[in-house]
Amino acid sequence: MSCLSMQGVRGGYSEVDILHGIDLRLEEGEIVTIAGTNGAGKSTLVKSLLGLLPRVEGAIELSGQPITAWSAERRFEAGLAYVPQVANVFPSLTVRENLLVVRGVKALRQRMDAVLADFPALVERLGQPAGQLSGGERQQLAFARALMPSPKVMVLDEPTAALAPSLVARVFEMVQALPAAGVAVLMVEQRARQALQISDRGYILDQGRCVLDGAAGELLANPRMTQLYLGGH
Ligand SMILES: Nc1ncnc2c1ncn2[C@@H]1O[C@H](COP(=O)(O)OP(=O)(O)OP(=O)(O)O)[C@@H](O)[C@H]1O
Ligand SMILES: [Mg+2]
Repeated sequence: MSCLSMQGVRGGYSEVDILHGIDLRLEEGEIVTIAGTNGAGKSTLVKSLLGLLPRVEGAIELSGQPITAWSAERRFEAGLAYVPQVANVFPSLTVRENLLVVRGVKALRQRMDAVLADFPALVERLGQPAGQLSGGERQQLAFARALMPSPKVMVLDEPTAALAPSLVARVFEMVQALPAAGVAVLMVEQRARQALQISDRGYILDQGRCVLDGAAGELLANPRMTQLYLGGH
């Protein structure tokens, strides 16, 4: 049984389909990358998973349970975490407050201490407003927030997009550490080459369809992939 699966998923923002039948799976312990050109439908696919797309048809399952009809709230409670590309922390709240306002977490303070063990830079800034953090620190806080409810699956939409190149490696290290903590990762990334280097498998989208998929190493070696989608990163 997969952690997460999509079968024949179609849908969009109006009666026009943006996704034209997506099949995808994420197994326990995996990191899977979704890449593709601008406008390919990557963020739309993420929204369909999270329950944020107005119209979705097809089957989406979380740990074998059909969730297509579930609200975003219920999916969150069932273990689906999401780090959006922007607006992923509350800038006016302190680091501590950002971690403690997460819904539905029991023994909040113990859980915060457990999560912070992997983010020592945040421990020194607990009383500081999140708006004063550097880009890399802010992304650490966004990850720590998403980890608070002990999710099964973490969905990341372009986690390195807003970051200086020097911070990108640190974010990929954070991603790489997640499976060992019991969290499978589905990651949309523009830096497809770097993302695939830390991934088990990947899917390449184009115009709402999956045009290539396979083991990360195979995709990296595929000439079609290199020409069309990987860019210079
Ligand atoms: N809120 C919306 N309402 C209507 N159409 C939308 C909306 N958001 C996206 N679209 C359209 O859906 C298509 C796919 O967009 P999407 O944001 O999923 O692409 P993407 O692969 O994430 O691109 P990028 O790499 O630029 O983030 C585009 O044609 C876009 O114009
Ligand atoms: Mg996008």
